[in-house]
Amino acid sequence: MRESNPSVTAAGAPDPAVPADPDEIAELRRVAVHLARTAADHVRARRPEVFGAGEDAEGAVQAKSSPTDPVTVVDTEAEQLIRRMLADLRPGEQVLGEEGGGSLGGAGEIVWVVDPIDGTVNFMYGIPAYAVSVAAMRGGRSLAGAVVDVAAGLVYSAGLGGGATRTEPDGTSIPLRCTEVGEVGMTLLATGFGYGAARRARQGQLIGALLPHVRDIRRIGSAALDLCMVAAGRADAHYEHGLNTWDWAAGALIAAEAGARVVLPPAGTVSKSGELVVAAAPGIAAELMELFDRLGVSEAILED
Ligand code: IPD
Repeated sequence: MRESNPSVTAAGAPDPAVPADPDEIAELRRVAVHLARTAADHVRARRPEVFGAGEDAEGAVQAKSSPTDPVTVVDTEAEQLIRRMLADLRPGEQVLGEEGGGSLGGAGEIVWVVDPIDGTVNFMYGIPAYAVSVAAMRGGRSLAGAVVDVAAGLVYSAGLGGGATRTEPDGTSIPLRCTEVGEVGMTLLATGFGYGAARRARQGQLIGALLPHVRDIRRIGSAALDLCMVAAGRADAHYEHGLNTWDWAAGALIAAEAGARVVLPPAGTVSKSGELVVAAAPGIAAELMELFDRLGVSEAILED
């Protein structure tokens, strides 16, 4: 298994040329939590204004890679808010955002990887499973990350080597651990689908092949939340082909710091290449990857 636990790296091994100082990681985590929380407050406040009963949401949604791949005005506002806060708090640092683009910067540079709303379709429909995700990466490795479950008001966060927690709306923080599941047959497996038709057709075939081998499948609609669910023991594993870096940059670190075995493409890999992301509880990770190899799940699914 291509494994990168406990650290989350681009190619699997931490870059020793870029040492990670625990104090710096703690500060990056604090900033990530602040940014994600503030943006989540904005997203929560804006939903009824844009998509509430009686509101005319026409003009608030545009299509991206396909007619079914939406971006709303609130995604754009939340990302702009995070960019403005970063310009103030961390001037000069790079930002890579789902809506505004950007780059991963040079090897020694911090880059903030932002998904302003992961689960945009849920957000539009009012299904309470969408999140703000913010990670600080360097050299292709996530050093700190925060994912805020907007509707539930839960804050998931992690720092490299510093563990993962979930903070409840009343301020209580709980350390996160994956489940102790020991066999794939008892695995609750979360996954997601891309927006392109051909990739979806293949993803559907793979689900059909996997379903007889696992306890059940979940398709919640937010990869960032799926990864946090693995961390919190609310799912045993997550996999998806063709995620973008902003979908997993924070959530994969949170899962890894909660004990998950994580497989990732190099940071910056484009969705089109269809590479696989996996986070699995440690007791099933090897068996699950063997099953993935046997059924063809491990292979990339190129975009049509
Ligand atoms: C999507 C969600 C979904 C996953 C898609 C992602 P978005 O992100 O994470 O669960 O299956 O592949 O694109 O578009 O809502 O930011």
